[in-house]
Amino acid sequence: MTRTLVVLAHPDLATSRVNAALADGVRDLPDVTVHDLYAAHPDLRIDVPGEQRLLDAHDRVVLQFPFYWYSVPPLLKKWLDEVFERGWAYGPGGAALRGKRLQLATAVGGREELYRPEGLNRFAVRDLLRPFDATAHLTGMRYEEPFIVHGASSLADEELEREVRRYRELLLDAPVPVAA
Ligand SMILES: Cc1cc2nc3c(=O)[nH]c(=O)nc-3n(C[C@H](O)[C@H](O)[C@H](O)COP(=O)(O)O)c2cc1C
Repeated sequence: MTRTLVVLAHPDLATSRVNAALADGVRDLPDVTVHDLYAAHPDLRIDVPGEQRLLDAHDRVVLQFPFYWYSVPPLLKKWLDEVFERGWAYGPGGAALRGKRLQLATAVGGREELYRPEGLNRFAVRDLLRPFDATAHLTGMRYEEPFIVHGASSLADEELEREVRRYRELLLDAPVPVAA
């Protein structure tokens, strides 16, 4: 049994289409906890011991967020800065995250073609997310291939439904069906 913690970081979930749909699509899965970071910390002050206890209780950590300025929304960065403490996450005695899986899941406004060397954004999103691969390595976590929803600003309803199914399958650890 894999206990999965989805750390959902959307500064305005009420206006979210893609992240809200993704989170709603996995909330009912067994052994999945969806933790809404902005709702849990409305004053943006993070309860570090509480967050560490939550991480202790799960085997897989999913960081789910809208892609903002080629990176994560500010509270998720603050969460990393404060929760992944030296002596807890890394450094002497810092082994709390060792062996856990780190999965990123992000909604990206731009289509995939824009994230190529000749495109407007030059780099692939999986490459822009490399700091998390390094973070996983430092903390002894297993970094998984990021789940990326491209074109989030203009997805048709059927495309969004397909992405939600893909996300559910990922969190269920189910094999993704091969298209005929
Ligand atoms: C402050 C801000 C920064 C953004 N930065 C990017 C970006 O760097 N690249 C991109 O493709 N889209 C960017 N977007 C678009 C968001 O990624 C997109 O609106 C979001 O993924 C949609 O998800 P939602 O429906 O859950 O809000 C940005 C949006 C905002 C508000």
